[in-house]
Amino acid sequence: MDEIELESNLNGVAYRLAERRDIVDMLAIERDVYEGEVPWTFSHFEHEIVQNKDAFFVVAEIDNKVVGFIGARLTDKGVNIHISNLAVLRDYQKRGIATTLINQIVRLMSNLGKNQMTLEVRRDNTKAQGLYRRNGFETDNLMPNYYEDGADAIWMVKKLRNNVEN
Ligand SMILES: CC(C)(COP(=O)(O)OP(=O)(O)OC[C@H]1O[C@@H](n2cnc3c(N)ncnc32)[C@H](O)[C@@H]1OP(=O)(O)O)[C@@H](O)C(=O)NCCC(=O)NCCS
Repeated sequence: MDEIELESNLNGVAYRLAERRDIVDMLAIERDVYEGEVPWTFSHFEHEIVQNKDAFFVVAEIDNKVVGFIGARLTDKGVNIHISNLAVLRDYQKRGIATTLINQIVRLMSNLGKNQMTLEVRRDNTKAQGLYRRNGFETDNLMPNYYEDGADAIWMVKKLRNNVEN
């Protein structure tokens, strides 16, 4: 993904592509929002940031502290994009950082002519579903027992219009 150009600074929050050195901070964000659990391990992040050329992460930084991240991966031979992961430190939530992270990917992928964005979210994560709905994602499918603990997932889709701010 060499074509990536981000809005680098919005409302005091800096946005940039994640690097391997950010993974420790990203694991800390996971622990903060998932009660000490890390659904993604170091090597999951490393794969998507370093090895997989069709994937990347964007981090949000305030005063050089990584406070949030979003992951994205090209799918379907590069025509669509899948949001793989999204989290913001509790202390920095509810100030629009996740919305901006999503919109950065939407703008970027619209400009690159991608067709649609997809994601899966736990059925019981109504907070994240509300965020996605407000940003134009619609429920496409229910995936029963999708997660290891037996929870259902909801598959959501957002159509992209090329070269249009969403
Ligand atoms: C879901 C998550 C990423 C949202 O992050 P966030 O940065 O708080 O998201 P935003 O600030 O863009 O929006 C969240 C809320 O803040 C509100 N908000 C945004 N800017 C605001 C502001 N300046 N003042 C007050 N409220 C604001 C939004 O309207 C939204 O309202 P809601 O609670 O009614 O839905 C975060 O809660 C999180 O990390 N959760 C745990 C991990 C997770 O569930 N990830 C998704 C997995 S699919």
